[in-house]
Amino acid sequence: MTSLRAFTCDDLFRFNNINLDPLTETYGIPFYLQYLAHWPEYFIVAEAPGGELMGYIMGKAEGSVAREEWHGHVTALSVAPEFRRLGLAAKLMELLEEISEKKGGFFVDLFVRVSNQVAVNMYKQLGYSVYRTVLEYYSASNGEPDEDAYDESNMKYKGCGQTATVVADFFSLAIDMRKALSRDTEKKSIIPLPHPVRPEDIE
Ligand SMILES: CC(C)(COP(=O)(O)OP(=O)(O)OC[C@H]1O[C@@H](n2cnc3c(N)ncnc32)[C@H](O)[C@@H]1OP(=O)(O)O)[C@@H](O)C(=O)NCCC(=O)NCCS
Repeated sequence: MTSLRAFTCDDLFRFNNINLDPLTETYGIPFYLQYLAHWPEYFIVAEAPGGELMGYIMGKAEGSVAREEWHGHVTALSVAPEFRRLGLAAKLMELLEEISEKKGGFFVDLFVRVSNQVAVNMYKQLGYSVYRTVLEYYSASNGEPDEDAYDESNMKYKGCGQTATVVADFFSLAIDMRKALSRDTEKKSIIPLPHPVRPEDIE
């Protein structure tokens, strides 16, 4: 039986089968440890009966309560190829949403590369809608445009994808998808912004 449990430090040495995926970023160890230290409840791994790690979700709670922006955020979600289409990602998202509900969040959000249509469609299937698009200039190491909206240096833009170096040569695009939680009775948090934003406009 699949077990869903808290991610531990040791799992960092066992999750290669999940992270060896072009759409899954492998961050530096301190980045994961920061999440484990601050938001351990938001770092959940699925383990197969044989002990292989099947997938994980890593997130956090952030934002101002006074401005009704307190929310759960999905920083990373990935399932190893051999365990896909079993409903694991949907289950991990459900758990993150439950935690965010308990914490009194107004919504859950995530950033995703526009080109990752499988993920975009999955999130839509799970009730997420596009809140805003994020314009950025990035360049991947292979010289291809990189649409991710993640900036590890200030830990603000959490796209489920690759960390990128900002350069002026490439235009890139990510979307910020949201799902309102029960505290947001009027669903104000998911009213789409009419214009794209730049990363510096995102809190
Ligand atoms: C996106 C990803 C997390 C989905 O994981 P998963 O465990 O296979 O997803 P689930 O089985 O929970 O799928 C939930 C729903 O999403 C949709 N979906 C997921 N993968 C799909 C695919 N390859 N094609 C079409 N629909 C898909 C389906 O509607 C599915 O429900 P269904 O199987 O009942 O039809 C996985 O493909 C992955 O790890 N990709 C690489 C990393 C990544 O892109 N992460 C997200 C970036 S923000």
